[in-house]
Amino acid sequence: MVKIRDDEFQYLCELLYQSYGLNMRKKRVLIEYRLMNILQKYQVNSFQEYFSLLRTDKSGKMKEEMLNKLTTNYSFFMREPQHFEFIKKEILPKLCVSKPFSVWIAGCSYGQECYTLAMILEELRLSGMVLPPINIYATDINTVALEQAKTGIYPKEAIANLPELWRKRFCRSLSDGTIQLKECIRKQVTFEYHNIMEPYDKRKFHLIMCRNVLIYFDERSRNKIYQRFYNSLQPKGFLILGMAEMILQNHVLFKYHGASIYQVKESVHGE
Ligand SMILES: C[S@@+](CC[C@H](N)C(=O)[O-])C[C@H]1O[C@@H](n2cnc3c(N)ncnc32)[C@H](O)[C@@H]1O
Repeated sequence: MVKIRDDEFQYLCELLYQSYGLNMRKKRVLIEYRLMNILQKYQVNSFQEYFSLLRTDKSGKMKEEMLNKLTTNYSFFMREPQHFEFIKKEILPKLCVSKPFSVWIAGCSYGQECYTLAMILEELRLSGMVLPPINIYATDINTVALEQAKTGIYPKEAIANLPELWRKRFCRSLSDGTIQLKECIRKQVTFEYHNIMEPYDKRKFHLIMCRNVLIYFDERSRNKIYQRFYNSLQPKGFLILGMAEMILQNHVLFKYHGASIYQVKESVHGE
């Protein structure tokens, strides 16, 4: 395995931090291990040589390939279920059925989180609840995860913790032993590449979920991103972070509802 020198390591950490907010300063061995195959692929014997190639690659494909190796994409269906309970009990019943509702799931990984939400919505609709059109936008910087997420295909074990009724209603078995979420679930989600260090100004959302992503960011980047999320939220919009991620309880922009659930303060939007 090619060892990364101190100056090379610093260069890479700075690049990942400045461009993507990722703090990899304690992940030296992991970086060497995860980039090993890429260095072999380009037949280079040092990280310096690899970085030279990276800098001259105008297509951006090499950077994309590197990010696909370095991001941590662990996720599963029904993760942190108290958040979905809050959406079901506190948010959805109060929606105006004639107004479309927009959700942004930032750092969606392989899609388990957005599809959990899509299945909840489908279940509620089937039980007779009238909901407005709900658009779920799911974004990530890992393009391999995004492409896989779009297919809605998972190993059978991945759906083991879903209610049996959902498995019957929303999943179908494929001949290779995997399962695929049905069209009625997949069509609810639009997947897009997006780096949360950059503005996502296309639309204003009623709900942003960014769970288990900012845990890898330092406080400075996190604060920038909270401001960005605030800019992307509708008045009284909700922000849900991972259970291990907390904005300070008396935040100037957000009111705290417990369990890492926040809401844009009314006075902030000048109401
Ligand atoms: C641990 S997964 C969390 C997945 C899901 N939100 C959950 O809670 O199960 C973190 C995801 O954040 C993504 N990520 C990391 N940095 C990002 C950035 N700057 N912009 C967008 N996504 C990012 C990673 O690629 C990864 O898929």
